[in-house]
Amino acid sequence: MPHLHLDTFNTIPFPAVEGEVSFDFSAISRGEGKESLIATRYKDRDFFILHKKSGEKDLLKSDKITRPSPNFLVKHALLAYANHSGSTIISSNVDTAGENVHLKQHDALKSVDFFATDFPSASEVRLEVGFGSARHLLHQAITNPDILFIGLEIHKPSIEQALKQITIKNLANIMILDYDARLFLEFVPSNSLSRIYVHFPVPWDKKPHRRVIGDAFVEEAIRALKPQGRLELRTDSENYYRFALETYSHPPQVTFEVHKNRDIAITSKYEDRWKKMEKNIYDVTLINDMQSPEKRLEGEFIFSQIPINDAILPKIERQTYRREWGFLNAEASFDIHDGGWMIRLAMGSFDRPEHLYLIVKNGQARYFPTVPVRSSTNLKAHILLDELLHG
Ligand SMILES: C[S@@+](CC[C@H](N)C(=O)[O-])C[C@H]1O[C@@H](n2cnc3c(N)ncnc32)[C@H](O)[C@@H]1O
Repeated sequence: MPHLHLDTFNTIPFPAVEGEVSFDFSAISRGEGKESLIATRYKDRDFFILHKKSGEKDLLKSDKITRPSPNFLVKHALLAYANHSGSTIISSNVDTAGENVHLKQHDALKSVDFFATDFPSASEVRLEVGFGSARHLLHQAITNPDILFIGLEIHKPSIEQALKQITIKNLANIMILDYDARLFLEFVPSNSLSRIYVHFPVPWDKKPHRRVIGDAFVEEAIRALKPQGRLELRTDSENYYRFALETYSHPPQVTFEVHKNRDIAITSKYEDRWKKMEKNIYDVTLINDMQSPEKRLEGEFIFSQIPINDAILPKIERQTYRREWGFLNAEASFDIHDGGWMIRLAMGSFDRPEHLYLIVKNGQARYFPTVPVRSSTNLKAHILLDELLHG
């Protein structure tokens, strides 16, 4: 991660501008281990530069939660701050090279916001959950150039590998997302997917609640699938196969197909391994029989206009509020240099919490750097936060 070690750290008057970078305000953490965050804007991206003492030296780096990608933005902003403040750099891992066009975000790599704001339309869309080596995903995309494939993975090296292959094979019909499949389906419009592949998911025999397939996932899958759309599980685990059969039998109306040791056009790394060990392979496919109503998420990330009393901060800082749908945690608090305060928040679902900041100035609240992803749990966490702030 890019960082600078400074001889002395000089503060600056806000707001300030250095070339194309602007610095809006700074906020200092309350309590132990003082660190300050400098609100920075560069190329339309808002993020924090973090300053803290590291032994005798002063360290300047980007804040983890708001860190923009590519790294070039952070490097440039760090150097701009050092320059503007007249701070002397002792050592750094920051080069002064300009933006590397080859390191620009890969077109196929999408953020969840992309899907949450405007789900892509194509005549046929298929989803693969946990694509791993991406052999199956790539094979499907190559053999079906008119179908759009969305690949979900939570393992970053697998994502990087898949992106490389997409470039090498020049594929324009794959979108990749680093996101938990159990939460993704809620962003999918009803009746829009023709297939969902779940091939060789982690069996989680000791912690079945962590399995991708579960009642909530199947319910959302049925809603997201077109009539006659298919949820295809392929597994070597007899436990998972039985569990899936049982889970698929809970909805009131579906059809299923079961196959044992059926060959498919492409085998994954896992499948090769299990076949060598002469393990059985099970396919359990759920076929959706219904047209589902459109899903409506009510609510916006807007705070009530009633002024927030500063006395609320000591009551909510470092508190965690657990609910059956998820949680809200005010992890740390900060004082803003010219009045007002800020909280570092974790909120939303337990499986994929959102991390961001809440700024309260002149009695009004706003999120930084952007509002949370528009998911049902984030909207619930927002309502809870608004209620707490107006206590
Ligand atoms: C056993 S591997 C199988 C990979 C690939 N489907 C294959 O057949 O070779 C399971 C994959 O699912 C991914 N995974 C696990 N839980 C996930 C989740 N909740 N959402 C998305 N991917 C997940 C893991 O990172 C892993 O790459």
